[in-house]
Amino acid sequence: MCGIFGYKGKKVKLSCLLDGLQRLEYRGYDSCGVAAYNAGNFLCKKNSGKITQLKTNLKANLGNQYSLALLHTRWATHGQPTKANAHPHKSFKKNIYMVHNGIIENYLDLKNKLKGKGYKFKSDTDSEVAVNLIASHYRGSIEKAVFSAVKELKGSFALAVFSESEPDKVVGVRNKSPLLVGVSPQGYFLASDLPAIVPLAKEAVYLKEKQVVVLDSNKINIYDFQQKKVKVNKEKIKIKNEEAKKKGFKHFMLKEIYQQPKVLQDALNIYTKKNQINFNQLKLSKSYLKGIKNIFITACGTAFHAACVAKYFLERHTKIKIEVDTSSEFRYRDFNVDKGDLFIAISQSGETADTLAALKKAKKQKAKVLSICNVLGSSLVRESDSFIYTPAGPEIGVASTKAYTAQLFCLYLFSLYLATIKGTVSGREKNKMLEELSRVPFHQRKILKQTRKISAIAKKFSKMGCFLFLGRGINFPSALEGALKLKEISYIPAEGYPAGEMKHGPIALIDEYRAVVCIAPMDSLHEKMTSNLQEIKARKGKILAIINPADKAILSFADQAVYIPKLKFQEFSPLLVAVALQLFAYSVAKNLGAEIDQPRNLAKSVTVE
Ligand code: AGP
Repeated sequence: MCGIFGYKGKKVKLSCLLDGLQRLEYRGYDSCGVAAYNAGNFLCKKNSGKITQLKTNLKANLGNQYSLALLHTRWATHGQPTKANAHPHKSFKKNIYMVHNGIIENYLDLKNKLKGKGYKFKSDTDSEVAVNLIASHYRGSIEKAVFSAVKELKGSFALAVFSESEPDKVVGVRNKSPLLVGVSPQGYFLASDLPAIVPLAKEAVYLKEKQVVVLDSNKINIYDFQQKKVKVNKEKIKIKNEEAKKKGFKHFMLKEIYQQPKVLQDALNIYTKKNQINFNQLKLSKSYLKGIKNIFITACGTAFHAACVAKYFLERHTKIKIEVDTSSEFRYRDFNVDKGDLFIAISQSGETADTLAALKKAKKQKAKVLSICNVLGSSLVRESDSFIYTPAGPEIGVASTKAYTAQLFCLYLFSLYLATIKGTVSGREKNKMLEELSRVPFHQRKILKQTRKISAIAKKFSKMGCFLFLGRGINFPSALEGALKLKEISYIPAEGYPAGEMKHGPIALIDEYRAVVCIAPMDSLHEKMTSNLQEIKARKGKILAIINPADKAILSFADQAVYIPKLKFQEFSPLLVAVALQLFAYSVAKNLGAEIDQPRNLAKSVTVE
């Protein structure tokens, strides 16, 4: 996934444009570049490495003003993260500049065709093929050339293009990769995502699938791929600028860990009133919900772990058959959902290619699609029959934290809503569970207060070569999520495993060099977990136990312990375990001096397959 930032307007400083691009750096950061124009002067600069490097290379120009610009920060899909492969790409002929986010699937055929027309290529990228394809169609109108070119492009592409012969126009394209326009008194800003334009614009126009936007200094026009003009729909930007800043935290990830109690409180305020759960905005009727026979949940990464937690809770309280799978597996399985089944897609960004594809497969099979998503204008939300908004706000840290517990919380609430409609949970039971959920923000704050203690524990574990995370039942997914958090920001190998599986192989790993994180709240499986820990202790494994304060048994043989409050309904404990393990992963990574907000090789949203 990459970050596109563009501008067309009266004039704006280069430093402002580079700051806008930097607000998209979480989307990819292995190389970057800018092409800008003002009054006959063209500037084009790109480099491998981060935007700070580009700012250094452009120090002399930062104060200069430009009326037109394309900027890009890259996450390499085709070709190494080198300067030659960085965007913007300039066409071999006709001096057209372009930035791209996505994957052109038929780029090799097109490249051969263009080579046959005498086009030469400087990079290994699919994007350079796209800009030369546009150039091959260019006869003096950049938008006409784009309309012709998009008919030949296959795959996912958000593009922003301009021609040196028409420096009064920027053209944007959205096809399976997000693109929006910020509308401001200074002119128009094109961006892959909202954080780039929040400080600059009060309104946004979200391009829909297969749309082309033509920006000139004082007007915006939008067309479909058949060149038919469509209505420009300006929406107020609700996110405040400070949300996109770190607010005194060292990393976005830590800020977002600390935001979780407020996020869950916001979710309570939105979806519950007194003892009523209110999903009435759902476009799924109560009679449909009452009759559901099967539910399928797909997602990727952390969102998939939220799906796994939901499976345990949903099957217990709604008695519906639940199937979960990663989106990348579900979409290729020879497995059909039945007409009328409920298909839930969970995604923080709403742009994950595999989850979008899984959703489209389910829609084709006539399932009802419900998305659980953190971005209102996202492709996933637009493609769904209905959606539940997780009110986590923009999540900038690549490692998902507040979005995860927001997903869990909304899934718990939705499950109770569904169970109440089906009559499989009594009103009284539902009220007791709601009351427990309403105390979770308070309990999370208690864990946040242990940050210093967890940081000291992390120091003792930071040098361990690899980790095993163990859990049972509804906390088996907590083990998967804890392992993912640690590995993706510290780069230490870590594996989540169902504790009951230890004897079937993994126990062979245990010795004094192995760290084992054991999630053992005092629930119905606590005794089993205790035996697992004793087996690990007997083999000198280094144990970090995530336990309730009164758990003297496990405390007696764990090397270290982090306490999570004991709940009346321990099935909500994943909401607390997550905070403890996020802080643990963060502290280990910080001890190792890791690049926490932008881990290597990763991007915030995987919009390519
Ligand atoms: C989570 O920490 C990771 N960054 C990653 O696994 C992420 O959860 C996954 O890519 C799914 O993203 P989405 O929620 O935006 O679909």
